[in-house]
Amino acid sequence: MKKHRSILLLIFLTVGKSLLAQLPIIPYPNKVVEGKGFYTVTSSVAKEAVIVIDSSAASVVTNSEGYLLTVTPKQIKVLAKTKVGAFYGMQTLLQLEAASKKIPVLTIEDAPAFGYRGLMLDVGRHFMPITFIKQLLDVMAMQKMNNLHLHLTEDQGWRIEIKKYPKLTSVGSVRGGTLIGKYPGTGNTNTPYGGYYTQAQLKELVAYAAAKHINIVPEIEMPGHASAAIAAYPELSCFPSEPTKLTNNMYASATENKIKTLGGKIVQETWGVFDDVFAPSEFTFNFIEHVLDEVMDIFPSSYIHIGGDECPKTAWKRSSYCQSLMKEKGIANEHALQSYFIQRVEKYVNSKGRKIIGWDEILEGGLAPNATVMSWQGEEGGITAAKQHHDVIMTPQGTCYLNFYQSSDPRDSIAFGGFLPIEAVYNYSPVPAALTPNEASYIKGVQGNLWTEYIANKDLASFMLYPRAMAIAENGWTKTKTGFDHFTSRVTRWQSLLQQKGLHYSDHLYNVQITSKPIAGGINVSIGGVGKAYKIVYNTNGKLPSVDDQVYTGPITITGDAKLQAGVVVNNKITDVASAAFSINKATGAQLVSLLNAPKAPYNKSGNTGFINGIVANDSRFSDGEWLAWEGKTIHATLDLGAATSVTQITTRFINSRGSWIHLPTRVEVLGSLDGKTFTRLGLQQNFDNSKEGALTVSFALPPTTIKFLTFIADPVTTIPAGFAGAGNPSWLFMDELIIK
Ligand code: ACM
Repeated sequence: MKKHRSILLLIFLTVGKSLLAQLPIIPYPNKVVEGKGFYTVTSSVAKEAVIVIDSSAASVVTNSEGYLLTVTPKQIKVLAKTKVGAFYGMQTLLQLEAASKKIPVLTIEDAPAFGYRGLMLDVGRHFMPITFIKQLLDVMAMQKMNNLHLHLTEDQGWRIEIKKYPKLTSVGSVRGGTLIGKYPGTGNTNTPYGGYYTQAQLKELVAYAAAKHINIVPEIEMPGHASAAIAAYPELSCFPSEPTKLTNNMYASATENKIKTLGGKIVQETWGVFDDVFAPSEFTFNFIEHVLDEVMDIFPSSYIHIGGDECPKTAWKRSSYCQSLMKEKGIANEHALQSYFIQRVEKYVNSKGRKIIGWDEILEGGLAPNATVMSWQGEEGGITAAKQHHDVIMTPQGTCYLNFYQSSDPRDSIAFGGFLPIEAVYNYSPVPAALTPNEASYIKGVQGNLWTEYIANKDLASFMLYPRAMAIAENGWTKTKTGFDHFTSRVTRWQSLLQQKGLHYSDHLYNVQITSKPIAGGINVSIGGVGKAYKIVYNTNGKLPSVDDQVYTGPITITGDAKLQAGVVVNNKITDVASAAFSINKATGAQLVSLLNAPKAPYNKSGNTGFINGIVANDSRFSDGEWLAWEGKTIHATLDLGAATSVTQITTRFINSRGSWIHLPTRVEVLGSLDGKTFTRLGLQQNFDNSKEGALTVSFALPPTTIKFLTFIADPVTTIPAGFAGAGNPSWLFMDELIIK
């Protein structure tokens, strides 16, 4: 009897599971109860569904966005308290219909985890056509997202028509050229680039979004990232007659000529953070109020985004106007001056019945009384704001910046430095563990951000957004998630829907991980991180993997320098590619005797011995796990090579990416010893060429020297100097494999 019961249970679970797999719904509903049989759609669910909106319906959850969907063999019915709830019920139904005209009998009781489920699109760095924004809105609505944040103004372009200030668009919407390649680049296109939206276009876009229950949050960036506005109206600057300062010598002469021709200020042509920011003057506040009047006329959004991030205080420090204003108002320092700036703007926005939202730097010097914080530098800003009982939208860069690389596939275009595979987005939970339940109630939602420095067109924009934006949608809606493999099975079903919408997407789903274990004379290499359903193939011939390559079945032994490339096979196509270069040398697998400071998460995925594991880090993805990073701390490691060993060369690499707070070391020293007690200096370097971005090799050539122990020391820039992103904070020191020959 017992045996029969377990067999029956097994059959039930199997049926349940296969039905579940037939619901390719994103975001996955919060409660699904499956029945038996199907409702067969004869024309369309839009025509056949019975929709009941009943504000007093007891059977729908308390949430105004919630719905109850009931499918029987005879009827499909959506019950909701509001139009929005009914709309979301229909989205679920439409997704089911897209999968099959036979809708399984079921009941779905659903409501979102968070009230704000958003995406941000930076149209400042690169202008995106309205038609594309509408396509995005279509997909966002289908996936129950309800806020599109448009980043409308930037150093590189002002993109919204303001009737009172026509030069914002006639001057501020066009830059004279664009950086070529990854910052600091290889040159300048010297081709004018521009674009802006008229107020009529934006009003029409707002209406289009509203019909899909999506609010558009407009962002007018202040007091920093304001070069385009300043180029149009130099009086907004603390130093109106000072020409724009160049930050990139590689194409100085052409840009210098433009600065001369235009008589001073230009719309920026390269990326980064710039010192010329809004002066906290009456002229500026008057300008901002008029701009916001027109913005609030176009956008009914209760949130008005005022930026607030990355505002260097250099100009305010050297401006006699700012210094006397601070004295007069009793403002203690420039951070407090930023707070004064934001609070004045908040007062104005509040007087119009709206509220401000800003990036987490608005916490500096004290938060404006009613401000909502968008936490981007990590979770800390969100935690601080929630503890002060301010509303928060979570968008930490480590899990929500969709402009970061999504795979290590070498076929992908250049992207911003970080590395954010979809699984990491999916695994993100917007409520920080540090909050009490009451504090957690201030976390109002989650947003994925698409910054467009390296995203020059709509197709690349949607390639970077999808499918990762689907993970953001699920994080915002689904309270108890069903696991990454179930998620990816639904994502693959969505690809044809995106195609129908004319949207590009990436088929990168898995972050193929190549890891190593030391063995005598080399390493054993494992390939993982891929859902069980998929096959991995690999080669060491330097070519991109093909479906006919060797199938991976278990660890591969590597005994010399080699390059391995692995690919995931989905539907007989290679979707993800990962590669690793190996260096088997005298440090590989050495014993780490001591390590003064451990590398810091998340840049420690290969562990404390990641720099002697035989795997060389990826040049362009500094969060690949093979670059180890220390924050403001010295790298001080001692290795035991196992036996007296003759050494002639010691090499490693560091990253120079100062815009991302990553600096070269100030000093590197290597010492050797035979007994582990008396160490002799083998090499010292104190000057490093930081003229190029990216990986820099540091190498010491020695006469043949016999050692058993080696100490490696690299000192960081402990405090980032003024004039660089993150000034005043500790720098990050990123180190690759230590190679001893
Ligand atoms: C930001 O990424 N600077 C908000």
